[in-house]
Amino acid sequence: MEVLEAIRTRRSVRKYEKRSVPEEFVRKILEAGRWAPSASNAQPWSFIVLRDEGVRKEVARAATYGRFLAEAPLGIAVVVDPAASTHPVEDGAIATQNMLLAAHALGLGTCWIGSYGSSYEERVKEVLGIPEDKRLLSIISVGYPAESSKSTRRDLGELVFRDRYGKSG
Ligand SMILES: Cc1cc2nc3c(=O)[nH]c(=O)nc-3n(C[C@H](O)[C@H](O)[C@H](O)COP(=O)(O)O)c2cc1C
Repeated sequence: MEVLEAIRTRRSVRKYEKRSVPEEFVRKILEAGRWAPSASNAQPWSFIVLRDEGVRKEVARAATYGRFLAEAPLGIAVVVDPAASTHPVEDGAIATQNMLLAAHALGLGTCWIGSYGSSYEERVKEVLGIPEDKRLLSIISVGYPAESSKSTRRDLGELVFRDRYGKSG
């Protein structure tokens, strides 16, 4: 799938078929995360592949807005090291988005489950054995889509200015 098409057609998917995601696809998704840009090329991330059903269920129990992870065949937790980068949040966010797009291009559905600064970040870190000095940026649920979303966006005309803030053109 071409990049612009992937960006335009990706939507969050929270319901998945039961079939599992091939390891070869998991690898491609992780590669897409690995090749994300980061401030000073710090690459302050690590990714935890969540295949084990028990682990996913425990994470889903803790993550108030990510309950559907329990029914997804796969999850990927994106961990960042704040000491390794001047912009750990942005770095981890771009890696996450790269993986969402790669998964979509492979015919998979994903949803970004926010974690950074959430009420459940510490609990999920505990479940996954993430060291105290690292942060859990996001968790991505992944699987073959069993629903399609029609989320829309504001028109460009509402959000693009020319030369100065507030000046439409
Ligand atoms: C930083 C961030 C955190 C998000 N956290 C959650 C979440 O915890 N649970 C969830 O169901 N969706 C979450 N989402 C998905 C958004 O709700 C979704 O991207 C948005 O509604 C637009 O829909 P779309 O992805 O289908 O285009 C998150 C997205 C982002 C970028």
